[in-house]
Amino acid sequence: MNAQIDHALEEIRRFRPSPEFAAQAVADEGLYDAARADRLEFWADQARTLLQWEKPFTRTLDWSNPPFAKWFDDGELNVAVNCLDRHVEAGLGDRVAIHWEGEPGDSRAITYAELTDEVKRAANTLTDLGVRSGDRVAIYLPMIPEAVVSMLAVARLGAIHSVVFGGFSADSLASRIDDAEASVVITADGGYRKGRVFPLKPVVDEALEKSAGSVRNVLVVKRGENEIGWNSDRDLWWHETVATASNEHEAQGFEAEHPLFILYTSGTTGKPKGILHTSGGYLTQAAFTQKNVFDLHPERDVYWCTADVGWITGHSYVVYGPLANGATQVLYEGTPDTPHPGRWWEIVEKYGVTILYTAPTAIRSFMKLGRQIPHEYNLRTLRLLGSVGEPINPEAWIWYRHVIGGGSIPVVDTWWQTETGAIMISALPGVTDLKPGSAQVPVPGVSIDILDDDGTAVEGEGGGLLVVTEPWPSMLRGIWGDPERFKETYWEKFGAAPDKTMYFAGDGARRDEDGDIWLLGRVDDVMNVSGHRLSTAEIESSLVAHPWTAEAAVVGASDETTGQAVVAFVILKASQAERVTDPAEASEELRRHVATQIGAIARPRQVFIVNELPKTRSGKIMRRLLRDLAEGREVGDTTTLADTSIMQVISAQVR
Ligand code: PRX
Repeated sequence: MNAQIDHALEEIRRFRPSPEFAAQAVADEGLYDAARADRLEFWADQARTLLQWEKPFTRTLDWSNPPFAKWFDDGELNVAVNCLDRHVEAGLGDRVAIHWEGEPGDSRAITYAELTDEVKRAANTLTDLGVRSGDRVAIYLPMIPEAVVSMLAVARLGAIHSVVFGGFSADSLASRIDDAEASVVITADGGYRKGRVFPLKPVVDEALEKSAGSVRNVLVVKRGENEIGWNSDRDLWWHETVATASNEHEAQGFEAEHPLFILYTSGTTGKPKGILHTSGGYLTQAAFTQKNVFDLHPERDVYWCTADVGWITGHSYVVYGPLANGATQVLYEGTPDTPHPGRWWEIVEKYGVTILYTAPTAIRSFMKLGRQIPHEYNLRTLRLLGSVGEPINPEAWIWYRHVIGGGSIPVVDTWWQTETGAIMISALPGVTDLKPGSAQVPVPGVSIDILDDDGTAVEGEGGGLLVVTEPWPSMLRGIWGDPERFKETYWEKFGAAPDKTMYFAGDGARRDEDGDIWLLGRVDDVMNVSGHRLSTAEIESSLVAHPWTAEAAVVGASDETTGQAVVAFVILKASQAERVTDPAEASEELRRHVATQIGAIARPRQVFIVNELPKTRSGKIMRRLLRDLAEGREVGDTTTLADTSIMQVISAQVR
């Protein structure tokens, strides 16, 4: 975080939009003027012009019961129709919606007409399986077109999808299935990753053995051709059901506040939160930002967002944003370096990608490999680059613009969260002067402030807490099944009084003299590893669930490539001392254990076996000191420790 601040203070470069770009830009200053003049009317106008309503709304925002907002609530729409049928009806059925590229090199182009057909078929199959409006369907799929089809088919029925990232373990999947009481799981036999098939259906089987039993059916796409078990009372093949179902399906309109999806994300406690999003407001802001932040010209652009549909970026900027706008996009199944390190650039060249949206961690990995790899490919079609997930350091921003973007195209750094549903802070390309390292300004219609702990606005250089001061259309509507946690976590930081009802994002930020916002990282016990959110508490509880562990403390240590890395400090049980003699072996075992329990993304970079943890007199673990150790810094102030000599003991053990 300190390095971040140093960069932030040093950074003075500015890039004006080129006149050519500005001349063709979708966005203009007028958006800010309109939003300033009448914020609610601005959003109502976006909702009317960007979406098709079965029943027009007359009310824009109901904020009479904060923090429970209702947007456009007397209107009705069908989200899937907005992403599909209306484009076909407008004569765009032959436009490619998805250029899909499998990791082994197989590919499919799917037009809007074909995608609409496939979604209707899947909706009919789900109906046959008893899925009705409001039911929950879990989706555990690789990045294949069926993932998009499944999400839209669920949405078409007014059911609620809960997509679980394919890298999560059986335990994580089971707890998400149970929390949402899903009745159907859609999965695949396996998918391709790093040149190998990774199994998915076997993980679902294991999860369902552990789960409470809400799941009636498992719908399985054949992709990996790997051996899988089969329960003929429960399991169905996609190619035997969806492929043969009718492609006639009449979609009905649902209320704007009808739930659309739940997506689980890590918080400060051990239990992931099911973030709930609804239909009309979510789709409005996803569509608006897709169009204006990415300068989307659907008739000529080829857009590619590299996120997995298992994360919010995949929901808003692979599925809903691009499709609501009728865009043509690339969907890629695999990893960036398989079968060779130029794979992404080969894809950009092959499809003539014009807009690329990815994460700083990917950019930094490419920087490490060197510019000669991207230089082997023709990347001249690119005209806009986007970044998301963590702060992008100015060096990476400049490299991205120069090496990938050829030196003169806009780079937009977009700040938002699973909870915000859509982009909240970003430059508008063609309008805003760009400043590397800063996410810059709230998008039109969004109100952001930076406050200190007492809720007083922080002016100028000093950093504070990022808050959203007014409700926004794509805001989360709650935590599934836990309204109290929703209020406490996000809305009561500055007190519960109505005038203090502000959304607390959990991020630190500062505003520079130009009014540009710099994100300074999380202020809570949430880590950001490769742009993925992980909770220290969740990993700690996984570590202490291991029979060898007595106590564990986890910190996020800064890491050159992944932003942060998980570093754990573990005290083994005295009773295990004889069994576990080799600390290196214990550490390996615990790393493996976390990966199995939560998923490979949570595997600690390091597990240090220690005899003590630094604690205050009241018994609180001082993670700050452990972070100093993990980052190889001089250990900070230890005067509040119960035993001030403890850090020397721990340092010696860590070395
Ligand atoms: O800390 C911020 C960081 O990612 C968190 C949200 O994580 P998640 O819900 O998984 O969503 C990630 C993709 C939207 C935020 O609280 N973050 C996200 N984008 C940025 C960022 N930090 C700095 N700059 C960004 N552009």
